[in-house]
Amino acid sequence: MSAIRAERVSKTYPGSTDRSVDEMSLTVEEGDFLCLLGPSGCGKSTTLRMIAGLELPSEGRIEVAQRTVDDVARGVHVPAERRGLGFVFQNYALWPHMNVRENIDFGLSMQRMPGNERRERIEHALETLAIAPYAERYPGELSGGQQQRVAIARTLAARPSVMLLDEPLSNLDARLRLEMRAEFQRIHRETGTTMVFVTHDQWEAMTLATRIVVMNEGRVQQVGSPLEIYQEPANRFVAEFMGNPPLNVIGRSDEESAAEALGAWPGAQTVGVRPEALRFGGEPEPGAFKLAVRIEALSPTGGSWIIEAAAGACRLIGTASVAPQLRAGEQVVCWATNRDVLQFDSRGDRIEERLVAA
Ligand SMILES: Nc1ncnc2c1ncn2[C@@H]1O[C@H](COP(=O)(O)OP(=O)(O)OP(=O)(O)O)[C@@H](O)[C@H]1O
Ligand SMILES: [Mg+2]
Repeated sequence: MSAIRAERVSKTYPGSTDRSVDEMSLTVEEGDFLCLLGPSGCGKSTTLRMIAGLELPSEGRIEVAQRTVDDVARGVHVPAERRGLGFVFQNYALWPHMNVRENIDFGLSMQRMPGNERRERIEHALETLAIAPYAERYPGELSGGQQQRVAIARTLAARPSVMLLDEPLSNLDARLRLEMRAEFQRIHRETGTTMVFVTHDQWEAMTLATRIVVMNEGRVQQVGSPLEIYQEPANRFVAEFMGNPPLNVIGRSDEESAAEALGAWPGAQTVGVRPEALRFGGEPEPGAFKLAVRIEALSPTGGSWIIEAAAGACRLIGTASVAPQLRAGEQVVCWATNRDVLQFDSRGDRIEERLVAA
Protein backbone atom coordinates (compact mmCIF):
# COMPACT_ATOMS: atom_id res chain seq x y z
CA MET A 1 0.00 0.00 0.00
CA SER A 2 1.16 3.48 -0.70
CA ALA A 3 2.32 5.59 2.22
CA ILE A 4 2.45 8.76 0.13
CA ARG A 5 1.16 9.64 -3.30
CA ALA A 6 1.68 12.89 -5.15
CA GLU A 7 -0.27 13.55 -8.36
CA ARG A 8 0.93 16.27 -10.71
CA VAL A 9 2.01 18.51 -7.86
CA SER A 10 3.48 21.87 -8.81
CA LYS A 11 4.77 24.75 -6.76
CA THR A 12 5.25 28.34 -7.84
CA TYR A 13 6.42 30.52 -4.96
CA PRO A 14 4.73 33.93 -4.60
CA GLY A 15 6.53 36.54 -6.67
CA SER A 16 8.14 33.93 -8.88
CA THR A 17 7.19 32.97 -12.42
CA ASP A 18 9.08 29.66 -12.43
CA ARG A 19 7.81 26.41 -11.06
CA SER A 20 10.12 25.19 -8.30
CA VAL A 21 8.37 21.83 -8.56
CA ASP A 22 6.82 21.00 -11.91
CA GLU A 23 4.07 18.36 -12.21
CA MET A 24 5.70 15.93 -9.82
CA SER A 25 3.98 12.55 -9.59
CA LEU A 26 5.34 10.07 -7.12
CA THR A 27 4.31 7.03 -5.11
CA VAL A 28 6.10 6.02 -1.93
CA GLU A 29 5.22 2.48 -0.91
CA GLU A 30 5.02 1.44 2.74
CA GLY A 31 8.47 0.36 3.89
CA ASP A 32 10.30 2.19 1.09
CA PHE A 33 13.55 3.98 1.80
CA LEU A 34 13.12 6.58 -0.88
CA CYS A 35 15.84 9.12 -1.62
CA LEU A 36 15.07 12.37 -3.42
CA LEU A 37 18.31 13.14 -5.18
CA GLY A 38 19.33 16.07 -7.33
CA PRO A 39 21.49 19.20 -7.51
CA SER A 40 21.02 22.25 -5.31
CA GLY A 41 17.84 24.17 -6.14
CA CYS A 42 16.13 21.32 -8.03
CA GLY A 43 13.10 21.31 -5.69
CA LYS A 44 13.86 18.53 -3.20
CA SER A 45 13.08 20.50 -0.04
CA THR A 46 10.01 22.09 -1.62
CA THR A 47 8.69 18.62 -2.49
CA LEU A 48 9.30 17.32 1.03
CA ARG A 49 7.79 20.41 2.65
CA MET A 50 4.63 20.03 0.57
CA ILE A 51 4.32 16.37 1.62
CA ALA A 52 4.81 17.46 5.23
CA GLY A 53 2.11 20.11 4.88
CA LEU A 54 4.48 23.01 5.59
CA GLU A 55 4.14 24.44 2.09
CA LEU A 56 0.97 24.73 0.00
CA PRO A 57 1.09 23.21 -3.48
CA SER A 58 -0.01 25.51 -6.32
CA GLU A 59 -1.50 22.59 -8.21
CA GLY A 60 -2.10 18.90 -7.72
CA ARG A 61 -3.06 16.38 -5.07
CA ILE A 62 -1.22 14.64 -2.22
CA GLU A 63 -2.30 11.56 -0.25
CA VAL A 64 -0.80 10.28 2.99
CA ALA A 65 -1.85 6.76 4.05
CA GLN A 66 -4.55 6.77 1.36
CA ARG A 67 -6.09 9.95 2.75
CA THR A 68 -6.19 13.14 0.69
CA VAL A 69 -4.20 15.79 2.55
CA ASP A 70 -3.93 18.30 -0.31
CA ASP A 71 -6.19 18.83 -3.27
CA VAL A 72 -5.78 22.25 -4.78
CA ALA A 73 -8.77 21.89 -7.13
CA ARG A 74 -11.06 21.10 -4.18
CA GLY A 75 -9.47 23.50 -1.71
CA VAL A 76 -8.36 20.69 0.64
CA HIS A 77 -5.34 21.24 2.91
CA VAL A 78 -4.72 19.17 6.05
CA PRO A 79 -2.25 20.95 8.37
CA ALA A 80 1.15 19.41 9.09
CA GLU A 81 0.40 18.31 12.65
CA ARG A 82 -2.56 16.23 11.48
CA ARG A 83 -0.67 14.24 8.84
CA GLY A 84 0.93 11.74 11.24
CA LEU A 85 4.40 12.26 9.80
CA GLY A 86 7.74 12.76 11.54
CA PHE A 87 10.21 15.14 10.00
CA VAL A 88 13.69 16.55 10.27
CA PHE A 89 14.24 19.62 8.14
CA GLN A 90 17.24 21.58 6.97
CA ASN A 91 16.59 24.27 9.59
CA TYR A 92 15.97 21.98 12.52
CA ALA A 93 13.85 24.34 14.62
CA LEU A 94 14.49 23.03 18.12
CA TRP A 95 12.63 24.76 20.96
CA PRO A 96 15.20 27.32 22.19
CA HIS A 97 13.81 27.48 25.75
CA MET A 98 13.92 23.70 26.25
CA ASN A 99 17.03 21.69 26.90
CA VAL A 100 17.94 18.66 24.77
CA ARG A 101 16.07 16.16 26.94
CA GLU A 102 12.95 18.37 27.00
CA ASN A 103 13.11 18.86 23.25
CA ILE A 104 13.10 15.10 22.70
CA ASP A 105 10.36 14.63 25.30
CA PHE A 106 8.12 17.32 23.84
CA GLY A 107 6.57 15.18 21.08
CA LEU A 108 6.21 12.21 23.41
CA SER A 109 4.33 14.14 26.07
CA MET A 110 2.02 15.40 23.30
CA GLN A 111 1.24 11.74 22.54
CA ARG A 112 0.32 11.28 26.26
CA MET A 113 2.78 8.44 26.61
CA PRO A 114 3.38 6.96 30.10
CA GLY A 115 6.40 8.41 31.93
CA ASN A 116 8.52 5.24 32.08
CA GLU A 117 8.16 4.55 28.36
CA ARG A 118 9.02 8.19 27.61
CA ARG A 119 12.17 8.00 29.71
CA GLU A 120 13.22 4.78 28.02
CA ARG A 121 12.77 6.25 24.55
CA ILE A 122 14.59 9.45 25.45
CA GLU A 123 17.57 7.55 26.88
CA HIS A 124 17.70 5.33 23.80
CA ALA A 125 17.58 8.33 21.44
CA LEU A 126 20.25 10.20 23.45
CA GLU A 127 22.50 7.17 23.29
CA THR A 128 21.90 6.34 19.64
CA LEU A 129 22.72 9.86 18.52
CA ALA A 130 25.66 10.17 20.96
CA ILE A 131 24.22 13.31 22.57
CA ALA A 132 23.77 12.04 26.15
CA PRO A 133 26.57 14.36 27.40
CA TYR A 134 24.55 17.39 26.22
CA ALA A 135 21.17 16.27 27.56
CA GLU A 136 20.85 19.26 29.91
CA ARG A 137 22.09 21.90 27.45
CA TYR A 138 19.97 24.34 25.48
CA PRO A 139 20.04 24.42 21.65
CA GLY A 140 21.93 27.74 21.71
CA GLU A 141 24.77 25.97 23.53
CA LEU A 142 25.23 23.30 20.84
CA SER A 143 27.14 23.14 17.56
CA GLY A 144 25.25 22.76 14.27
CA GLY A 145 25.99 19.05 14.06
CA GLN A 146 24.87 18.50 17.66
CA GLN A 147 21.61 20.37 17.01
CA GLN A 148 21.06 18.27 13.94
CA ARG A 149 21.45 15.11 16.01
CA VAL A 150 18.95 16.39 18.59
CA ALA A 151 16.46 16.98 15.78
CA ILE A 152 16.97 13.40 14.55
CA ALA A 153 16.70 12.05 18.12
CA ARG A 154 13.44 13.89 18.63
CA THR A 155 11.94 12.37 15.49
CA LEU A 156 13.29 8.88 16.21
CA ALA A 157 11.88 8.90 19.74
CA ALA A 158 8.37 9.60 18.43
CA ARG A 159 8.61 6.52 16.13
CA PRO A 160 6.40 7.81 13.34
CA SER A 161 5.41 5.34 10.62
CA VAL A 162 6.74 7.75 7.98
CA MET A 163 9.84 9.88 8.42
CA LEU A 164 10.67 12.81 6.17
CA LEU A 165 14.33 13.77 6.37
CA ASP A 166 15.85 16.75 4.59
CA GLU A 167 19.64 16.32 4.40
CA PRO A 168 19.74 15.16 8.02
CA LEU A 169 23.44 14.33 7.90
CA SER A 170 24.73 17.45 6.15
CA ASN A 171 26.37 19.02 9.21
CA LEU A 172 28.10 15.92 10.51
CA ASP A 173 31.74 14.94 10.05
CA ALA A 174 32.65 11.93 7.92
CA ARG A 175 32.74 9.39 10.74
CA LEU A 176 29.51 10.44 12.35
CA ARG A 177 27.83 10.51 8.94
CA LEU A 178 28.85 6.93 8.39
CA GLU A 179 27.56 5.90 11.82
CA MET A 180 24.27 7.75 11.36
CA ARG A 181 23.81 6.28 7.90
CA ALA A 182 24.15 2.80 9.41
CA GLU A 183 21.70 3.84 12.13
CA PHE A 184 19.07 4.90 9.58
CA GLN A 185 19.55 1.59 7.77
CA ARG A 186 19.11 -0.30 11.03
CA ILE A 187 15.95 1.61 11.98
CA HIS A 188 14.53 1.00 8.55
CA ARG A 189 15.35 -2.70 8.67
CA GLU A 190 14.09 -3.27 12.21
CA THR A 191 11.00 -1.08 12.26
CA GLY A 192 9.95 -0.98 8.60
CA THR A 193 9.52 2.78 8.93
CA THR A 194 8.88 4.41 5.57
CA MET A 195 11.66 6.89 4.91
CA VAL A 196 11.73 9.80 2.48
CA PHE A 197 15.25 11.10 2.59
CA VAL A 198 16.52 14.16 0.72
CA THR A 199 20.14 14.32 -0.28
CA HIS A 200 22.30 15.81 -3.01
CA ASP A 201 24.97 13.21 -2.25
CA GLN A 202 24.66 10.41 -4.79
CA TRP A 203 26.79 8.07 -2.72
CA GLU A 204 24.47 8.50 0.27
CA ALA A 205 21.47 7.79 -1.97
CA MET A 206 23.10 4.74 -3.57
CA THR A 207 23.96 3.17 -0.23
CA LEU A 208 20.72 3.97 1.64
CA ALA A 209 17.85 3.89 -0.79
CA THR A 210 15.58 1.08 -1.87
CA ARG A 211 14.41 3.53 -4.55
CA ILE A 212 15.85 6.77 -5.83
CA VAL A 213 13.98 9.67 -7.40
CA VAL A 214 16.35 11.81 -9.44
CA MET A 215 15.15 15.40 -9.88
CA ASN A 216 16.37 18.29 -11.97
CA GLU A 217 14.86 21.76 -12.36
CA GLY A 218 11.71 20.78 -10.50
CA ARG A 219 11.04 17.70 -12.60
CA VAL A 220 11.34 13.99 -11.91
CA GLN A 221 13.98 12.59 -14.25
CA GLN A 222 13.80 8.95 -13.20
CA VAL A 223 12.54 6.66 -10.45
CA GLY A 224 14.28 3.35 -9.87
CA SER A 225 16.45 1.15 -7.69
CA PRO A 226 20.01 2.42 -7.16
CA LEU A 227 21.41 -0.04 -9.69
CA GLU A 228 18.73 0.73 -12.28
CA ILE A 229 19.50 4.42 -11.98
CA TYR A 230 23.21 3.76 -12.38
CA GLN A 231 23.09 1.10 -15.08
CA GLU A 232 19.96 2.09 -16.99
CA PRO A 233 19.79 5.89 -16.73
CA ALA A 234 16.81 7.45 -18.51
CA ASN A 235 18.78 10.35 -19.93
CA ARG A 236 22.11 12.14 -19.97
CA PHE A 237 21.31 14.21 -16.91
CA VAL A 238 20.81 11.11 -14.74
CA ALA A 239 23.76 9.32 -16.34
CA GLU A 240 26.11 12.24 -15.71
CA PHE A 241 24.78 13.04 -12.23
CA MET A 242 25.40 9.50 -11.00
CA GLY A 243 28.94 8.20 -10.70
CA ASN A 244 32.26 9.54 -9.51
CA PRO A 245 34.41 10.10 -11.51
CA PRO A 246 31.56 11.02 -13.84
CA LEU A 247 30.41 9.32 -17.03
CA ASN A 248 32.54 9.89 -20.14
CA VAL A 249 30.40 11.47 -22.83
CA ILE A 250 31.66 11.30 -26.38
CA GLY A 251 29.86 13.40 -28.99
CA ARG A 252 29.72 13.00 -32.72
CA SER A 253 30.78 16.60 -33.19
CA ASP A 254 33.56 16.53 -30.57
CA GLU A 255 36.31 15.32 -32.81
CA GLU A 256 36.89 13.56 -36.11
CA SER A 257 38.18 10.43 -34.41
CA ALA A 258 35.15 10.47 -32.06
CA ALA A 259 32.77 10.64 -35.00
CA GLU A 260 34.55 7.62 -36.42
CA ALA A 261 34.36 5.82 -33.07
CA LEU A 262 30.61 6.41 -33.08
CA GLY A 263 30.21 4.96 -36.54
CA ALA A 264 28.77 1.75 -35.14
CA TRP A 265 26.03 3.69 -33.28
CA PRO A 266 24.33 5.59 -36.10
CA GLY A 267 21.25 6.50 -34.05
CA ALA A 268 23.18 8.09 -31.21
CA GLN A 269 24.10 11.78 -30.98
CA THR A 270 26.39 11.02 -28.04
CA VAL A 271 27.49 7.90 -26.24
CA GLY A 272 28.46 7.49 -22.59
CA VAL A 273 30.91 5.08 -21.01
CA ARG A 274 31.49 4.70 -17.25
CA PRO A 275 35.11 5.21 -16.15
CA GLU A 276 35.32 1.67 -14.79
CA ALA A 277 34.19 0.27 -18.16
CA LEU A 278 36.98 1.93 -20.16
CA ARG A 279 40.00 -0.25 -21.01
CA PHE A 280 43.31 1.05 -22.23
CA GLY A 281 45.41 -1.04 -24.61
CA GLY A 282 45.05 -4.76 -25.26
CA GLU A 283 42.87 -6.27 -27.96
CA PRO A 284 39.38 -4.69 -28.27
CA GLU A 285 36.48 -7.13 -28.49
CA PRO A 286 34.66 -7.35 -31.83
CA GLY A 287 32.04 -4.59 -31.98
CA ALA A 288 33.66 -2.64 -29.17
CA PHE A 289 33.63 1.15 -28.94
CA LYS A 290 37.20 2.23 -29.63
CA LEU A 291 39.13 5.47 -29.81
CA ALA A 292 42.85 6.17 -30.23
CA VAL A 293 43.97 8.27 -27.26
CA ARG A 294 47.04 9.71 -25.65
CA ILE A 295 47.55 8.94 -21.94
CA GLU A 296 47.72 12.29 -20.13
CA ALA A 297 48.12 11.30 -16.49
CA LEU A 298 48.00 8.38 -14.09
CA SER A 299 47.12 9.07 -10.45
CA PRO A 300 46.78 6.70 -7.51
CA THR A 301 43.83 7.44 -5.17
CA GLY A 302 44.75 4.83 -2.56
CA GLY A 303 42.49 1.94 -3.40
CA SER A 304 42.41 2.51 -7.16
CA TRP A 305 43.93 4.42 -10.06
CA ILE A 306 42.66 7.25 -12.21
CA ILE A 307 43.68 7.28 -15.86
CA GLU A 308 43.28 10.50 -17.81
CA ALA A 309 43.41 10.32 -21.59
CA ALA A 310 42.64 12.57 -24.54
CA ALA A 311 41.76 12.31 -28.22
CA GLY A 312 42.10 15.90 -29.41
CA ALA A 313 39.56 17.95 -27.47
CA CYS A 314 37.82 14.83 -26.21
CA ARG A 315 38.88 14.03 -22.62
CA LEU A 316 38.31 10.61 -21.07
CA ILE A 317 38.67 9.35 -17.53
CA GLY A 318 39.12 5.72 -16.61
CA THR A 319 39.55 3.92 -13.32
CA ALA A 320 41.47 0.74 -12.58
CA SER A 321 41.69 -1.36 -9.44
CA VAL A 322 45.29 -2.43 -10.14
CA ALA A 323 48.22 -0.27 -11.20
CA PRO A 324 47.82 0.28 -14.96
CA GLN A 325 50.73 -0.73 -17.20
CA LEU A 326 50.74 2.62 -18.99
CA ARG A 327 52.97 5.69 -19.28
CA ALA A 328 51.96 9.32 -19.63
CA GLY A 329 52.43 10.38 -23.26
CA GLU A 330 51.81 6.88 -24.61
CA GLN A 331 49.38 6.39 -27.54
CA VAL A 332 46.94 3.52 -26.97
CA VAL A 333 43.52 2.32 -28.03
CA CYS A 334 40.90 3.07 -25.43
CA TRP A 335 37.87 0.81 -25.70
CA ALA A 336 34.72 -0.44 -24.05
CA THR A 337 32.68 -3.51 -24.68
CA ASN A 338 29.48 -2.88 -26.60
CA ARG A 339 27.31 -3.74 -23.56
CA ASP A 340 28.88 -0.86 -21.64
CA VAL A 341 28.01 1.84 -24.18
CA LEU A 342 25.04 4.07 -23.29
CA GLN A 343 23.50 5.79 -26.32
CA PHE A 344 21.74 9.15 -26.20
CA ASP A 345 19.65 10.90 -28.85
CA SER A 346 19.84 14.59 -29.75
CA ARG A 347 17.53 15.51 -26.83
CA GLY A 348 19.72 13.63 -24.39
CA ASP A 349 17.25 10.77 -23.83
CA ARG A 350 18.78 7.35 -23.69
CA ILE A 351 18.16 5.05 -26.61
CA GLU A 352 17.12 1.92 -24.73
CA GLU A 353 18.22 -0.67 -27.19
CA ARG A 354 21.91 -1.47 -26.98
CA LEU A 355 22.50 -2.52 -30.56
CA VAL A 356 25.22 -4.96 -31.26
CA ALA A 357 27.55 -3.05 -33.50
CA ALA A 358 28.55 -4.64 -36.78
N1 LIG B 1 10.38 30.44 0.11
C1 LIG B 1 10.80 30.52 -1.18
N2 LIG B 1 10.43 31.58 -1.95
C2 LIG B 1 10.80 31.66 -3.24
N3 LIG B 1 11.56 30.74 -3.87
C3 LIG B 1 11.94 29.68 -3.16
C4 LIG B 1 11.59 29.51 -1.78
N4 LIG B 1 12.13 28.35 -1.34
C5 LIG B 1 12.79 27.82 -2.40
N5 LIG B 1 12.68 28.61 -3.49
C6 LIG B 1 13.23 28.32 -4.83
O1 LIG B 1 12.70 27.09 -5.29
C7 LIG B 1 13.69 26.31 -5.94
C8 LIG B 1 13.80 24.96 -5.27
O2 LIG B 1 14.28 25.14 -3.96
P1 LIG B 1 14.47 23.94 -2.94
O3 LIG B 1 14.79 24.52 -1.62
O4 LIG B 1 13.27 23.06 -3.01
O5 LIG B 1 15.73 23.20 -3.58
P2 LIG B 1 16.61 21.97 -3.03
O6 LIG B 1 16.59 20.96 -4.11
O7 LIG B 1 16.13 21.57 -1.70
O8 LIG B 1 18.08 22.59 -2.96
P3 LIG B 1 19.27 22.39 -1.86
O9 LIG B 1 19.94 21.09 -2.23
O10 LIG B 1 20.15 23.56 -2.12
O11 LIG B 1 18.68 22.37 -0.49
C9 LIG B 1 14.97 27.13 -5.90
O12 LIG B 1 15.13 27.77 -7.14
C10 LIG B 1 14.73 28.12 -4.79
O13 LIG B 1 15.41 29.31 -5.03
MG1 LIG C 1 16.98 21.67 0.20
